[in-house]
Parts: sequence; C-alpha cells; structure tokens
Amino acid sequence: MDVEPFELERWFAEYEHDADVMLAESGVRSLPADRFDTDPGDLGYVIPTAGAPDVRGTIAADYGRSADEVLCTVGTQEANFLAFQSLLSPGDHAVVVTPTYQSLHAVPDSICDVTRVPLDEPGWTLDVDAVAEAVRPETELVVVNNPNNPTGRKHPEDAMRALYEVAADNDAYLLGDEVYRLLAEDPVPPVASMGEYGISTASLSKAYGLAGLRFGWLAGPEEVVSAAERWKDYTTISPSKFGQHVARQVLDGESDDLRSEALAHVRENHEITAGWARDHGLDWPDPVGCNVFLRVPDGFEGSRDFCRTVVEDAGVVLAPGDCFSTGGESYDGYFRLGFGLPTDELREGLARVDDVL
Ligand SMILES: Cc1ncc(COP(=O)(O)O)c(C=O)c1O
Repeated sequence: MDVEPFELERWFAEYEHDADVMLAESGVRSLPADRFDTDPGDLGYVIPTAGAPDVRGTIAADYGRSADEVLCTVGTQEANFLAFQSLLSPGDHAVVVTPTYQSLHAVPDSICDVTRVPLDEPGWTLDVDAVAEAVRPETELVVVNNPNNPTGRKHPEDAMRALYEVAADNDAYLLGDEVYRLLAEDPVPPVASMGEYGISTASLSKAYGLAGLRFGWLAGPEEVVSAAERWKDYTTISPSKFGQHVARQVLDGESDDLRSEALAHVRENHEITAGWARDHGLDWPDPVGCNVFLRVPDGFEGSRDFCRTVVEDAGVVLAPGDCFSTGGESYDGYFRLGFGLPTDELREGLARVDDVL
C-alpha cells in the first residue's frame, strides 16, 4: 500500500512543538483529566474488543441502531480507516466530497480509483448532482464530512438525505464523517440513521475536547461493522481501556452538560474571531464548529508563505489551505484558523497575528 504524506500532520509536526499558540487545532479546548474518574481498574484489553456492550448500546441509541451495529475504535481516524479497508478493493471506485481531512480521500486512493467532487465556492455548498454524475456502476462508497473540515460548512438535512439517496440508488454506502456533528447547535440527523446504506464515524475528540482519549466509533449495518472488526484485529485490537472508561462517564451521564459547556465556549470565541476577521477585512463565512477557512491576506504568496511567516515571526500555528489541495483543486488562497482554544490563548494568538499583518 502506497499512501501520500498527510500534509497537515506533516505541517504540524514541523511547527507545533516549538510554537507558543496553536491557532490551528480543529476541536474545542481540551478538558482536564481530573474532570473524570481515571481509574479503569485492570489494564487489560477492552473485552470484547469491539467495545463493551453497554457502551456500544449507548452509542447505538443515537443512531436508532443496536449495539451490534457499533464498533468502538481508536478515534474517528481508525473508524474511517477500517471502513475503507473493509469496503474497498482494487477495481472499486469511491467518490469523496472535497476539500476535507486528507485521510478521507488519501486512504481510499491507496486502494482504488477515487473521484473527488469539490464543494461549490464561495459558500462551500454540497453539489449533490455533481456527486450523482461522478457515481459509476462500480462505486462502492460515497464519503462526506459534515460539518466540514476545513470550511466549517454544515450541509443541511435535505442535501444529506439527497446524497444518501444517490449512494443507496447505486447500492453504495454513504460514509458520513461526523466528528464535528455535535459542535452544531442543531445537528443534522446522522447518516447511519438514514437507512441500510448509511455509515457514521465519530468520536469524543472534537465536540468534548477529549482528543487524547482516542475514543471513537463506527455505526452502520451489521455486515459493515463485522467487516471493519475483522480489520481491527490487525490495527489496534481493542480501543483504549482509559478511553472507554472515560467515554462511559461522558456518554452515560455528563454528555449534555459537557456539550453545553463546549458550545458556550465556542459561541464566545466565534464572536471574538469574527470581529477580528472583520477588522482585517477578511470575509467571515459564519462557520459551524470552531474551524474557519479564511482568505490569505494580501501581500503573501499563498497560504504556506503566510502561515510560515506567522509561525516563524509570531510563534502562532495556523493551517495552510494548501494542505487541503488535492487532485487539481487548489486551496492555497485560504488558511484554516481554529478558534476552539482557551479564550485567553485565542486573544493572545490573534493579537500576535495582528502584529504580523
Ligand atoms: C474530518 C476529520 N475526521 C477525523 C479526524 C480525526 O479525529 P479523531 O481524533 O476522532 O481520530 C479529524 C481530525 O482533525 C477530522 O478533521
């Protein structure tokens, strides 16, 4: 298997460690571990390795599915990887809506033929007809990330249902990466609740600020879950014991409070960042969640030049839009700013970018 380098992760690897302010994290600020009981008892594998039945059952309820239709994973990243490995083979075809998190097209690309269907600028709207045109008889999978990284665009329910019909009419699955779903005030129904061809992947990383737990899942038809589980025996075997222990506390009791807390935090930071963007004459697309895709200010030769200047001169990490360029689509005119961090750090980071500008 030959897979292209993950541009955004490579960028972070180069700059994140030594920088002062991380203004490119895509999720909400991290919660401290002492908010939870962190003693899971013995540190054996999670048994059964697909996840404890009660945890799978709680997750499944959100999708109107049963515990057997959920597989617990090491983050959304593993859930997506397992779905691609188990559903795609050489000779198949996948359609991926772009721009998006690189693994959603790079991993399928390492297995089979992939057609990328770009969102329509400037509003980043989902073009369901263009997806329908891209679908072929051998298309096994359509992939969409909603709300979208990097644009912060939330595709509405009618568009998502129309997309589901396009996939289902072709006997193909629709995979919705919904890792940002609960950062919307009014989330759209998840893809896995839409019917037999719907698969949802998600985690506790972004909406709760628990990325280090590495706890995610895949929900969908039982045959998809079983096929993914066969691959999982070769990747991580079981999810993390700590991850599941804390996930149970989040999912069983505290999820509403933790989510409200996170949403209030994002609302406050959204206003601050929108004001900052307006002050610099940058169009504000009113994103859902805490990622915004802004135009590179005048005077820079594209997104890498701008982001490199900001990190080298001001110690602030931004994400170059060019990291999302793919298959002839260039996003070099944009940069992604993550405003989910603690509010004082956000203010500090924005002030430092001010100095550069
Ligand atoms: C769309 C998308 N999917 C998956 C991931 C990975 O998330 P997790 O921490 O749940 O593995 C990210 C992280 O940025 C993402 O943006």
